[in-house]
Amino acid sequence: MEIRVYRNEKEIGEAAGKIICSLVNEKPDCVLGFATGASPVPVYEYLTEQYNEGKVSFKDITTFNLDEYCELPKNHKNSYYTFMQENLFGKIDVNPGKINFLDGNADEATESKRYARAIEESGGIDIQILGIGRNGHIAFNEPGAEFTDEAWKVTLTQSTIDANSKYFDDIPMPRHAMTMGIGSIMKSKKIILIATGHAKAEAVKNMINGPVTPLCPASILQQHKDVIIMLDEAAANLL
Ligand code: PGA
Repeated sequence: MEIRVYRNEKEIGEAAGKIICSLVNEKPDCVLGFATGASPVPVYEYLTEQYNEGKVSFKDITTFNLDEYCELPKNHKNSYYTFMQENLFGKIDVNPGKINFLDGNADEATESKRYARAIEESGGIDIQILGIGRNGHIAFNEPGAEFTDEAWKVTLTQSTIDANSKYFDDIPMPRHAMTMGIGSIMKSKKIILIATGHAKAEAVKNMINGPVTPLCPASILQQHKDVIIMLDEAAANLL
């Protein structure tokens, strides 16, 4: 694991964004794994700026997102599909036919196989962006008894509901989500995990210095050969 500490979120956005842009310029048809939540937003701002300045084109990339809520229509304002449209996809020249999302309302087993096949057929994810939950989750792989493999339907924990329910002002936050599994995430060729703020410090400490255990799903990243952890000082506070 390579740990890098930055002064602020903007610097993280720029650092992660530069790695992505240089891959896209070198390999225009690369495969990018995107995450939702507050952590990656500065990265998406940087990518949008670079696109607006004519320094990069995303027209040939393929994308896979990590997760999607169940019990929510795809176009609902709180869906992760909408989040990506608003924060990145609607602002750059990505080909809508090459955007891949889990369907939170599909049959779990069928959807899991479909997503795994789609990732494999794309050639695999070149760079996967990740956040981390306060409880150590990556994507929506919540702490549990074992590491998961391919995409599956998860029951969200109270910690995740507490962190994300602030985004739901008209309906209760869904209690379930479809998420890429730990096994699929670990197959990504390169992983960049972003964590900012004091609320993440404990999870970051457990991820980096704790044992590899499903009780802290992010700890599995200790076994990945190419992972960069980008932190601000608050998130790195307990290291
Ligand atoms: P956040 O979420 O970036 O909104 O803090 C990260 C996560 O829960 O994985």
